[in-house]
Amino acid sequence: MTHPDPRDSALVRAARGLPTTHTPVWFMRQAGRSLPEYREVRADVPMLQACRTPELVCEITMQPVRRHGVDAAIFFSDIVVPLAAAGIDVDIKPGIGPVVAHPVRTQADVDALPELIAEQVEDITRSVQLLVAELGGTPLIGFAGAPFTLASYLIEGGPSKNHEHTKALMYGAPDVWNALCAKLSRISGTFLRVQAEAGASAIQLFDSWVGALSLPDYLRFVQPHSAAALAAVADLDVPRIHFGVGTGELLAAMGEAGADVVGVDYRLPLDVAAQRLGSAYSVQGNLDPALLFAPREPLEAKVREILTLGKAARGHIFNLGHGVLPSTDPDALTRVVDLVHTESSSGSSGSA
Ligand code: CP3
Repeated sequence: MTHPDPRDSALVRAARGLPTTHTPVWFMRQAGRSLPEYREVRADVPMLQACRTPELVCEITMQPVRRHGVDAAIFFSDIVVPLAAAGIDVDIKPGIGPVVAHPVRTQADVDALPELIAEQVEDITRSVQLLVAELGGTPLIGFAGAPFTLASYLIEGGPSKNHEHTKALMYGAPDVWNALCAKLSRISGTFLRVQAEAGASAIQLFDSWVGALSLPDYLRFVQPHSAAALAAVADLDVPRIHFGVGTGELLAAMGEAGADVVGVDYRLPLDVAAQRLGSAYSVQGNLDPALLFAPREPLEAKVREILTLGKAARGHIFNLGHGVLPSTDPDALTRVVDLVHTESSSGSSGSA
């Protein structure tokens, strides 16, 4: 059976600023604990083991596509998967997040970090191939963590609110910082490339915690490294999405790092984001994930408002401003997908 080419999908077209029949929608963390079918298949399998088991990766990635009818699948994995695959001692602790056995603080620590070689992630290629075959015309988004966010986990040893050791290293030993981020940009770049070469139709670089920085610090310490990670797939036919939380002041710089689409969190209205970005970028976002707990009427009004404001950009991919919260009612997500589709394909609305 032939199916439509995912390169002609609403997601890929909106990412490139081309007209679409409707506004595409997917959710960060759409696969995961909000779904009972996810909790069931994950019951006896540790997170990192699940991420390295192709049949399980395929099943978990497909679950929200089947249930919600979203316009894209996001590859089920984690930002620390390539670090673990390279041989770094990192684990994901339930309810906490990534935890690193030996925090990285010195040049010797950086020198001891391995590189990632594509052969170490052949299972990722296999998982992507399985998914692309099952998804048909629905695009698969591959992803990686950006150097700053990965560096923060490695330097702090785990999740951090203030990133104090990270900033101390940045300012106290800029050479060590740059050597660490250069290494991380190669690991992320390799991981993105493996997914794109195996058939992912778009990629997203997650710099979740980079909103902790000022614009001057971002430009000086981070942007060149994120640009290097994004450059690893620049020659492939995949649009690039670049996302962080609390990054209202950084949006233009994140676009200039080499993105087609800039992700916007819920703190900044999309028309303001589009104005800050200019006409060379599409936007993605930006419903507050907490509003999925609100009554239907105000939630629906907010979805409509976001669709309207998103028209200020050359293209709009509907998403949350950050990931789905674990206790979200999955039916609320399905209703948002339906509403985005009906609203954006009715009559003269949008970029059709
Ligand atoms: O549906 C999807 O979005 C795909 C899967 C995905 C996961 N992690 C699965 C996961 C993606 C895209 C990520 C990326 C990721 N991981 C980011 C960037 C996105 C973001 O949220 O900002 C970050 C910062 C991480 C690091 C990380 N991994 C955290 C903070 C946590 C949560 C810890 C917890 O248990 O609350 C994880 C674990 C994780 N990654 C889970 C899932 C489904 C939960 C693990 C479980 O189900 O046991």
